[in-house]
Amino acid sequence: MLFPDFRGRRMRANPNFRRMIRETRLSSDNLILPLFAVEGKSVKTPIQSMPGHFQLSIDYIVKEAQKAKDAGIPAVILFGIPESKDPLATTAYAADSIVQKAIQAVKEQVPELCVITDVCLCAYTDHGHCGVIDNGEVDNDASLDLLAKTALSHARAGADMVAPSDMMDGRVAEIRQTLDEDGFSDIPIMSYAVKYSSAFYGPFRDAAESAPQFGDRKTYQMDPANANEAIREATMDIEEGADIIMVKPALSYLDIIYRLKEEIDLPIAAYNVSGEYSIMMAGEMMGWVDAKALIMETLLSIKRAGADLIITYSAVDAARELNH
Ligand code: PBG
Repeated sequence: MLFPDFRGRRMRANPNFRRMIRETRLSSDNLILPLFAVEGKSVKTPIQSMPGHFQLSIDYIVKEAQKAKDAGIPAVILFGIPESKDPLATTAYAADSIVQKAIQAVKEQVPELCVITDVCLCAYTDHGHCGVIDNGEVDNDASLDLLAKTALSHARAGADMVAPSDMMDGRVAEIRQTLDEDGFSDIPIMSYAVKYSSAFYGPFRDAAESAPQFGDRKTYQMDPANANEAIREATMDIEEGADIIMVKPALSYLDIIYRLKEEIDLPIAAYNVSGEYSIMMAGEMMGWVDAKALIMETLLSIKRAGADLIITYSAVDAARELNH
């Protein structure tokens, strides 16, 4: 049908028509809020590059978790900033370390909320890499055991789901086996399967104090130029036992989300990362853009591309907007 028989504007003419034929709908059910936990009491240290986000002591983590739940968000993902770091990331898997205590507190005080944990070593190693170092290189196989121990310690503390973000090969299988052997066969793994080596993580590394002290993450995180490799990484993790496949970052990788949605049949999560958030907040502070509108539009675009779940620093504001 061609103009003038077809007029695209006809069905855009009023809010009811637009509402009736809208193809994609965002829901607070799909949102996951990241939180950063530090030791101490009544600590709420602003993260300079992420306005509205803080390093929070556990009392405040619980408050934010409650806020997220009240806004209609089903899940939070916890990151820890430990008091001490060493080459083997001991504080990543110690039973009484920061994330383990934060999990316990949230599960005790906001039990309805799903607690997901980021499983990685970079915030806990003194060198800031996501695995252990051998001869100046990140040693893949030597890191697997520590990652699995970390995931297990989270499960023991009460985590509902674990999310490995380290990009070591074989870690999903190792974590699955370790969890199963310890009686945690019901704990799902949301794998950061497709994680690109990205400049968009800059603000997060300030927040989590996890920047690598030498080199970069290019030997383990993916080359932004590659798309076929995303299918391979996702397929490998599915075979190893992943329950949800994540793509990260989101906005420069919507094509990857779309391709994965076409090719795999597991739920897909997208991580709307720190830099994506900071750029919008900076634009808002300059008075150049309307961050609130940008956030809703970008979350919608991530969902339209094929993401079932979205991890976003804007989760609370977006959920309130969606549910008001
Ligand atoms: C840990 C991890 C990172 C992010 C999530 N988990 C940082 C990194 O890989 O350097 C980034 C999240 C964000 O930028 O919001 N490996």
